[in-house]
Amino acid sequence: MCGIVGYVGSRDSIDVLMSGLKRLEYRGYDSAGVAVIGADGTLKTRKRAGKLAVLADDVAETAIPASTTGIGHTRWATHGGPTDDNAHPHLSADGKLAVIHNGIIENFAAIRDELEGQGFTFSSETDTEAAALLLGREYAETGDLREAFQRVVGQLDGAFTLLAVHEDEPGLVVGARQNSPLVIGLGQGENFLGSDVAAFVEYTRFALAVGEGEMVAITPDNVEVTDFVGNPVQSTPFEVQWDAAAAEKGGWTSFMAKEISEQPDAVANTIRARIGADGLVHVPELEGLDELFRDISRVVVVACGTASYAGMVGKYAIEAWTRLPVEVALSHEFRYSDPVVDSSTLVVSISQSGETMDTLMAVKYAAERGAKTLSICNTQGATIPRESDAVVYTHAGPEVAVASTKAFVAQITALYLLGLHVAHVRGSLTSEQISDNTAELQAIPAKIAEVLTQHDEVAQLARWMSDTRSVLFLGRNVGYPISLEGALKLKELAYIHAEGFAAGELKHGPIALIEPGQPVFVVVPSPRGSQTMHSKVVSNIQEIRARGARVIAIAEEGDVAVLPYADTVVRVPLAAPLFEPLLCVVPTQIFAMELASAKGLDVDQPRNLAKSVTVE
Ligand code: F6R
Repeated sequence: MCGIVGYVGSRDSIDVLMSGLKRLEYRGYDSAGVAVIGADGTLKTRKRAGKLAVLADDVAETAIPASTTGIGHTRWATHGGPTDDNAHPHLSADGKLAVIHNGIIENFAAIRDELEGQGFTFSSETDTEAAALLLGREYAETGDLREAFQRVVGQLDGAFTLLAVHEDEPGLVVGARQNSPLVIGLGQGENFLGSDVAAFVEYTRFALAVGEGEMVAITPDNVEVTDFVGNPVQSTPFEVQWDAAAAEKGGWTSFMAKEISEQPDAVANTIRARIGADGLVHVPELEGLDELFRDISRVVVVACGTASYAGMVGKYAIEAWTRLPVEVALSHEFRYSDPVVDSSTLVVSISQSGETMDTLMAVKYAAERGAKTLSICNTQGATIPRESDAVVYTHAGPEVAVASTKAFVAQITALYLLGLHVAHVRGSLTSEQISDNTAELQAIPAKIAEVLTQHDEVAQLARWMSDTRSVLFLGRNVGYPISLEGALKLKELAYIHAEGFAAGELKHGPIALIEPGQPVFVVVPSPRGSQTMHSKVVSNIQEIRARGARVIAIAEEGDVAVLPYADTVVRVPLAAPLFEPLLCVVPTQIFAMELASAKGLDVDQPRNLAKSVTVE
């Protein structure tokens, strides 16, 4: 949830920290702060409630002296509201040592009681300050930052990434992680730490993921990774697949607008080099898993929010192609529901960030129960893929806007690849059937591009409806998760009531919500897939229209059956029915973004949210 950056090298660290925080701001944006060791050898800190711009103004007004060692933090509040005092860094009692933290220290109250009993006073309501004061106490005993830090991390329970600097040890930043992300950026004569590679990709694309229960110490010329008791740990560096420009807004009005427009590429890049000339799926990461795919008796997908809706779309496709039963569980419910998982279950986790704590815990839980785990993830080196038996990366590129768009279509695409590959291994589809489907998939990027050409019409509709207080979404089959996703986008961006329903459920209750003027988006299935299902949805439209609903139908080109009953029809190109979600979701994303913009809201950073939810 919070963003963390650390630097040692020869640049002015404040510049590196502020640009790193800018790229990490999507992780949390209610306060921000930095601590640097100035050339005069003293620790300087600045921290301010509000977005990063508030801190940037502060730093610009009263410059911080040049420094080559520092840490920075952008916060999403957990313990203690978003105030200057609660913002990070937090200091030791003598003010010489600074700590920043992402996560929740579960035993902070006990540590706080102990420290207060020893005469320490607290100036914030955060759990982090307990770690800072504790580290200061241990430093007073050891006089060594690495040793003191090692003592402290061994005493903490919960989820944390911690970074610390001490003014008596300039040129050193120490860090540790437990159930929270931390990546090292490897430079020449400089090194970096970050919650993710975005923090330092402007300076280096070579990175090293810090593993679970590991500590790191960086100096300008050295990187030392150990476990929590000091044993050296070997890790393999990786090269970041995208450059800093990919995480820039460019000429777009928002990251979200940019990311919606990048969806043809998100799909194209996710299938690139993964479909062979034979029309079959060749994903190197899945090679060697044939025996597993033959042996499993069911699939459980775990994910949260938008990623879970991608999982729901995947369920229809994987069941249709493999005839394996697929269950989709919200990660946070899965773990606490005593789920039926064993060695014949494949648990597929879906996560853009690869850090969502609920999903990480579900994966660990499934592994403990003997299930095989496969992760679908958009972030290299993230924790969830590291904790899984296998990973299929989506190649959507960095997603900066808090509300997920291009990662969603990439996740669905990866699920299609997985489903078709498993169908091939199990022999549930013929090679010809598989290549028909992969051909459909290869045609999708161009079709998404066609849907995007209707941006202005959908934006106009959103502007007309900017006073709307409630919007409903209906869909059947693969259209159902799209109705849930359309409603979620609208809730989180435009802060209005929105709900998605399975269209067939309407008459079991929700139809009571329909009153004259009530806007309802209906995802209309292709009549080429199932004429019966199409007719049923058209009947549903008639039912709500008869009660005064204002119907916005998302329907394929040439579907004239909806015309008499829809106030507005947004067209999508023809596609095989299972692939339609990749097209139908796009107008709902544009609608939510444009309606929020019309209300003057920040579409990239909606209130109360953070992109990477690293607390349970
Ligand atoms: C909504 C949204 C969230 C995420 C969810 C899971 O727009 O972005 O619902 O999909 O928090 O996040 P990841 O995919 O990072 O695990």
